[in-house]
Amino acid sequence: MNIAIDGPAGAGKSTVARMVAERLGYLYIDTGAMYRALAWAVDHHHVPVDDEAAVAALLRESTIALRRTEDGQLVLWNDQDITDKIRTPQVSQYASVVASYPQVREQMLQLQRAMAAAGNVVMDGRDIGTHVLPDADVKIFLTATIEERAKRRLAELAQKGISSDLHSLKREIAERDKRDSERKVAPLRRAEDAHLIDTTNLTLSQVVDRVMQICKRTGEADS
Ligand code: DC
Repeated sequence: MNIAIDGPAGAGKSTVARMVAERLGYLYIDTGAMYRALAWAVDHHHVPVDDEAAVAALLRESTIALRRTEDGQLVLWNDQDITDKIRTPQVSQYASVVASYPQVREQMLQLQRAMAAAGNVVMDGRDIGTHVLPDADVKIFLTATIEERAKRRLAELAQKGISSDLHSLKREIAERDKRDSERKVAPLRRAEDAHLIDTTNLTLSQVVDRVMQICKRTGEADS
């Protein structure tokens, strides 16, 4: 079975996807981390972020890998471990810009489909159910209010020792939502056959339980 989990920034996709993958013994693929890796490299190598051809060329000449370890998933850019460098507000903004480029998305699509080819993956992102894995067995679309998503992001950043404030996080998330939803290629959109879960008033384990129930129902219906 392949499981696609999409939704806007801060809706809880990564945590939920990771936990569902763990429970099922599936491979978790965080596609946002791949756009973030490229965004980090653009910044690190001083490539102009508004130059689509230059950004796409950088991706073409590089490798991105997600490596599973006992301590979680590592994000490697040209074999360099950049896991701890890709969650800053700067990288978040750049990721949303580079993700709007068709030449970048086309390459990411190929990479992501190759990663999922063996099956039994939980993949999270913005366009997994609509573009990357349109035939996924289970599609989930997670949402939450902007206020709640900003609060979660604030707590997440605080845990990593990065200080921020709710007001600017809300603004950043709203900007990213707008860019991710309005771009021409593979915008953030709920697939028609995706199950919608509003996580605003749900705990993490409630969301995971709901996703597991959907997976179970789908598995039973298929067998
Ligand atoms: O899920 P995230 O915040 O780590 O994603 C970072 C950015 O990458 C986000 O602004 C949207 C983009 N993205 C995308 O366009 N398509 C995906 N499948 C995953 C992420």
